[in-house]
Amino acid sequence: MLIIQKSDVIPSEITTKENFENRRTFIKAAGASLVTASGIFTGLIHHSAQALPNKQKISGYVKTKFGADEKLTPYDDVTTYNNYYEFGTGKSEPAIESKLFKPSPWTLSIEGAVKKNKQIGIEDLFKLSPLEERIYRMRCVEGWSMVIPWIGLPLSKLIQWAEPTANAKFVEFISLSDDRMMPGQRIQVLDWPYVEGLRMDEAMNPLTIMALGMYGEVLPNQNGAPLRLVVPWKYGFKGSKAIVKIRFTETMPKTSWVKAGPSEYGFYANVNPNVDHPRWTQSSERRIGGGLFTPRIKTQMFNGYAEQVGQLYSGMDLSKNF
Ligand code: MTE
Repeated sequence: MLIIQKSDVIPSEITTKENFENRRTFIKAAGASLVTASGIFTGLIHHSAQALPNKQKISGYVKTKFGADEKLTPYDDVTTYNNYYEFGTGKSEPAIESKLFKPSPWTLSIEGAVKKNKQIGIEDLFKLSPLEERIYRMRCVEGWSMVIPWIGLPLSKLIQWAEPTANAKFVEFISLSDDRMMPGQRIQVLDWPYVEGLRMDEAMNPLTIMALGMYGEVLPNQNGAPLRLVVPWKYGFKGSKAIVKIRFTETMPKTSWVKAGPSEYGFYANVNPNVDHPRWTQSSERRIGGGLFTPRIKTQMFNGYAEQVGQLYSGMDLSKNF
């Protein structure tokens, strides 16, 4: 996503000289990390295997009617075609480079405009509110999409528990910063940690969830274990992975992508087929998993969720809120 160049080639296919050099450093760094990490983490991984290992089934979640008519993207595509720059800038790197990532133990901190700072462990987050399955379309700003059966809790339930004060106008989501476990962070492709944000009413919208699993199991590392944000009417980059901190703020958070390329990425980033990204048309999309010759499909306003969220933006000039 980051390479700022006039082109309609998807970024994973572009290798500028600088990127090539960066990539070489990256690959060396990643290789080194595997050696060190395996030395450091072998015991820990073994030890924590009972806690929240990948592939662990989630039981007792409620099936909902969301997306019941959608054809799911194959699990193998969802778990091997990823954007997760903490583990590399290529689509296939996160699945490989995140193998040693340890999503347990994990604590989520709540701070900022709240009655009092709080912390919650991942196991307690599983029990905070009944878990639901939500089958949502996910549209990346790069022009591809997937349909994923997430399992999670409405973000509004977590916010109620967090007890924000009247000063809370925005919510900031801060992902893990740990370049031992996340080798991609040894290169400054983004201003780490990954930061995203929502306006308070967007965060409280019933469609917004904090996902803890997908396809009936806890989240795989490459998809954001142990917890990630899912906001189905916005471009996928709003869906922060591996969140460690939620901060309630009075002013609009400075998000990683806006800092990296303010002319390309906006804070709102609502899916909008009428406003093209400087490098990618947004009028259509490629549904992943359908094979090379599958025709592109039309992108829908707010990714097809206009009925539920359109009113949040009444009065706003959507051509300027990319
Ligand atoms: N979260 C973090 N922490 N780091 C990232 O690089 N990439 C974002 C988003 N969340 C990203 C992230 C982007 S650009 C997209 S499109 C989605 O994750 C991709 O999610 P997926 O890999 O599960 O399909």
